[in-house]
Amino acid sequence: MSGDTAKLPPPFRLIAHEAIGSTNDEAKRLARDGADEGLIVWARTQTAGRGRRGRFWVSPPGNLYFSLVLRPQCRVAAAAQLGFVAAVALAGAIGELAPNIELRCKWPNDLLADGKKISGILLETEMVVGDRPDFVVIGIGVNLAASPRDVAYSATSLAEEGIPGVVPETMLVKFVERFAGLLACWRDEGFGPVRDTWLKQAAGLGEPTQVRLDHETLVGRFIDLDGDGALVLGMPSGNRRIAAGEIFPVTA
Ligand code: BTN
Repeated sequence: MSGDTAKLPPPFRLIAHEAIGSTNDEAKRLARDGADEGLIVWARTQTAGRGRRGRFWVSPPGNLYFSLVLRPQCRVAAAAQLGFVAAVALAGAIGELAPNIELRCKWPNDLLADGKKISGILLETEMVVGDRPDFVVIGIGVNLAASPRDVAYSATSLAEEGIPGVVPETMLVKFVERFAGLLACWRDEGFGPVRDTWLKQAAGLGEPTQVRLDHETLVGRFIDLDGDGALVLGMPSGNRRIAAGEIFPVTA
């Protein structure tokens, strides 16, 4: 990384790698060893990048891959809110660099550009006692130069959307600047302001939605995001709160 990252606001600081297995794995290893909040592990490429639900995250050079260590001192359920803080910060950063792209937040933490996935977030927590996480690692991948072809969803990159030449350093600094402010807001005011901003940009809100869980698939209407970031699905049998899963639009 260049001198750009010297501009990171405290307590954020960077460890940079040319290549690594997974920045999330390295950030978790350092957090277990006592790394303070704000540590960012960045790599130009990953050889074992991980997505949600055990998927592989294709990680060629040119895109952004990093993981951030946080020590939020909150309930485990509330830690999931930090994925939304990150998604809103990232939407702001991408929107600043690419104001003409239609950006949407897809539950739980993806970002869509013109309906195609441009970014994914993998949030992992580790517990010490009771209900308190010792740390949270937020891993973020942003397709700047290229997007994967052999995946089960449609994907895009900033370059494919007509914005070539955005380098990882620039996107990382813009993300951290926004994330620092939103994290402070989350600590001072709770989830409400971030939740409101996320909902304004949500993909599929109010629409018929299929939710795939590990062992079942549900269909209903995506009616809300609850106070911990769970999706509220309106079904004929009543509302169902879903903490983890994958959503798809239902087409007639
Ligand atoms: C997803 O949408 O499935 C989440 C993708 C998260 C990918 C990022 S890339 C940086 C960090 N390191 C990883 O191994 N995964 C995350």
